[in-house]
Amino acid sequence: MAEPYLKMVSVKKGFPGVQALKGVDFEAYAGEALALIGANGAGKSTLMNVLGGILRPDEGEIQIEGRAVTITTPLDASMHGIAFVHQEMAMLPTLSIADTMFVANFPTRAGVIDYKTTRERCIQALKRLGCNFDPATRIRDLSPGDQQMVEIARALLSDPRIIIFDEPTSSLTSREKVRLFEVIQSLKKQGVTVIYITHLMDEVFNICERAQVLRNGETVGGGLIKDLTYEDIVRLMIGTKEINRYFEHHTSTIGEPVLKVEGLSRKGVLDNISFELRKGEVVGLWGLLGSGRTEIARAVVGLDPIDGGTIQVRANGGLKTINPGEAKNWVGMVTENRREEGLLLPMSVKHNLSLANLRALADRLYPFINFKLETAQSKKYVERLGIKISSLEQKVANLSGGNQQKVVVGRWLQRNPIIFFMDEPTRGLDVGAKADIRAIIGELAAEGAALMVISSDIDEIMSLGDRYLVMHRGRLVKELGAGASKEELMAAAAGV
Ligand SMILES: Nc1ncnc2c1ncn2[C@@H]1O[C@H](COP(=O)(O)OP(=O)(O)OP(=O)(O)O)[C@@H](O)[C@H]1O
Ligand SMILES: [Mg+2]
Repeated sequence: MAEPYLKMVSVKKGFPGVQALKGVDFEAYAGEALALIGANGAGKSTLMNVLGGILRPDEGEIQIEGRAVTITTPLDASMHGIAFVHQEMAMLPTLSIADTMFVANFPTRAGVIDYKTTRERCIQALKRLGCNFDPATRIRDLSPGDQQMVEIARALLSDPRIIIFDEPTSSLTSREKVRLFEVIQSLKKQGVTVIYITHLMDEVFNICERAQVLRNGETVGGGLIKDLTYEDIVRLMIGTKEINRYFEHHTSTIGEPVLKVEGLSRKGVLDNISFELRKGEVVGLWGLLGSGRTEIARAVVGLDPIDGGTIQVRANGGLKTINPGEAKNWVGMVTENRREEGLLLPMSVKHNLSLANLRALADRLYPFINFKLETAQSKKYVERLGIKISSLEQKVANLSGGNQQKVVVGRWLQRNPIIFFMDEPTRGLDVGAKADIRAIIGELAAEGAALMVISSDIDEIMSLGDRYLVMHRGRLVKELGAGASKEELMAAAAGV
């Protein structure tokens, strides 16, 4: 086999309270896609941030084509042909697509920005990904998936020799994913080194030739994908044999309706939606991206205005009609969009966990908060969810992506609502953590909560639901019982 194009040798990186990388060796070859795999907090993003010049390692060396290189800034990385598609996008919402893509290196003519060339190169780069956006469009007017495509197009602009994808598909539609995978195939043919971080094993088996698995800042194994099974990888990642709980189904007794929605409408988005959720049941809401599945949850919780319809919740032994604004007293919502709706990044884990729950944490002397109780409660949920932190005072911004998502879930658990909407609750979580969240969903149902779970992962929905509702273009088109098949769900969502 040829020499590796890229080598990282004995890389160490510590943060206050955690040794994120404990001397990691990493090799990648030209023309291959290497899967970098590991549980939440294993050190994947940290290792790639070192390669991308975003973090300085405490020790270690980077070699490209056998020669040691110094990378201390993202610009250094870019000069060595390294491009990075980040896990969490950090684009300015008010900038145009063209400005976002060229912010660091506008094409110039005689020292003046050449807008015509900028525009053309922008259109070309986007076309390569099958996107026909107008370069003048503002970032904030794009869907998260389209924003991600802009981020990918930006990375491709510099004709990189090494490209890092850190969970690139979490907000893409299936069509966008197909397009991305085609682009990755063609990059490989051109000899580009692709480093691919994901928690989705089907992507690993589809796209990658080789894998390296990290656990707690150390390499625990890897090899050629063709020699590895799904179980091998999961076992390496989480270091246990408890893979079976991945598909265990909860059991609970289903009782009276606790939420009744009738004729919920919002022009162009939701068309006359009616459904019930009963005590102790988990209803899987399935539909394609953009079918209105998130919008149902947002409308019920009062985050989006509605044009018509009624919402009733269980209160004092009967059903009581509520105004959208009151819903938050009964309904909890775990969102997929932890950046925008979920978390206060500069604040501590402890405060984020108690955020949804300030009233319960107040003493009789409300509004004064019982800080001891706040600490005790937060500790309890950190343990229950297995959130990996160095202390309760750690800023949420410094947690790994998956652990941030667990904080969002923990926050709502504390509040103990009788109805839950969970929109992609396990997005970005490793397989072990996904199983933890699913177990918690089962426990909540067994304790008598009613839950509606939205997920793009059909296996996840199938493993959770007592019943399924299917959306198509803003309408609820089908209700299916527990025995439904994947094919039935998919067909209904496609409008068949
Ligand atoms: N800026 C920081 N300050 C303090 N700790 C940090 C910082 N960045 C990362 N960490 C810690 O380093 C460890 C590794 O985090 P990293 O983000 O590399 O994990 P990851 O493998 O990418 O996980 P995920 O799959 O959840 O994204 C975690 O314990 C994390 O909390
Ligand atoms: Mg990460």
